[in-house]
Amino acid sequence: LQGLVCSFAFFLQTLHTAFGDVSYSFPEEMKRTSVIGNIAKDLGLKASRLSARKARIDTEGNYERYCDINQSTGDLIVAERIDREGLCGKKASCVLKQELVLENPLEVQRISLHVQDINDNSPQFTEDFIKFEIGESTDKGARFSLDEAHDADIGQNMVQSYTLERNEYFVLNVNTKTGGRKYAELILDKELDREQQHELKLLLTAVDGGSPQRSGTVVIHVTVLDANDNAPSYKAHVTENNKLGSSLRSVTARDPDWRQNGTVIYSILPGEVNGVPVSSLLSVNGEARGDSRCEVV
Ligand SMILES: *[C@@H]1O[C@H](CO)[C@@H](O)[C@H](O)[C@H]1NC(C)=O
Ligand SMILES: *[C@@H]1O[C@H](CO)[C@@H](O)[C@H](O)[C@H]1NC(C)=O
Repeated sequence: LQGLVCSFAFFLQTLHTAFGDVSYSFPEEMKRTSVIGNIAKDLGLKASRLSARKARIDTEGNYERYCDINQSTGDLIVAERIDREGLCGKKASCVLKQELVLENPLEVQRISLHVQDINDNSPQFTEDFIKFEIGESTDKGARFSLDEAHDADIGQNMVQSYTLERNEYFVLNVNTKTGGRKYAELILDKELDREQQHELKLLLTAVDGGSPQRSGTVVIHVTVLDANDNAPSYKAHVTENNKLGSSLRSVTARDPDWRQNGTVIYSILPGEVNGVPVSSLLSVNGEARGDSRCEVV
């Protein structure tokens, strides 16, 4: 019963009915029959008289009966599962109202159960994957915001930080929203190069501040989009004394860019050799797309 707090105020309302207020603070999810505190002692009642006075726990308003009294010891015990998230959601304080009723004379004592959060939930991302398509020409320093991880717990037991798998291209920046919620963004730390790597998979981890700490992960898929950043190049070796119309050499130009940006179209650019325009010396034979052959004309 770590962190048990107990305080009470006691008022005599009439000769036969007294209204008191006793409060207990304890963690959620304690086992049924766990002892919350000794209410007889806390209210200055004789435990031996509880049975004769038909001591029992009642509920106030719409509450269920979450605790019970052991008539022989005066212990207040857990009677129902107390799940803070289910009862109070994200509320900072979770208080359940119960009453201790005694007869001969009739006496009603109010009991406030302050339910403390335990770290029983892990951070979770809504999706299995976070997908980005990022152009290889994107400048270093570009930011990409990431979906927040959610944790049903409160306070320190909520998401406190994120970590990104070590990689060459991206770093993580973690920010805090009003209300203390944490979210992260990817920052491009080095320009992408589709020709080097056309896809990246990075593991993002969200961790809470509970003890023991809990975490949740998501995979970030980055597809690198092509930019036409490579000029085709080719090499051809030519020997002299070729007959007219004979095949000179087949040339193969390569451009590592994607689809249209990597399609090579062959043509002879105007130039000159010893004062004679090159286009009149050479022509491209056949298919002008893909690998091609040059012939002397
Ligand atoms: C009340 O407490 C006594 C002593 O700890 C225990 O033996 C008994 O089982 C308890 N009764 C209930 C109903 O929990
Ligand atoms: C080719 O590059 C341009 C930018 O240079 C880009 O906008 C276009 O999407 C690229 N095409 C393909 C098929 O990737």
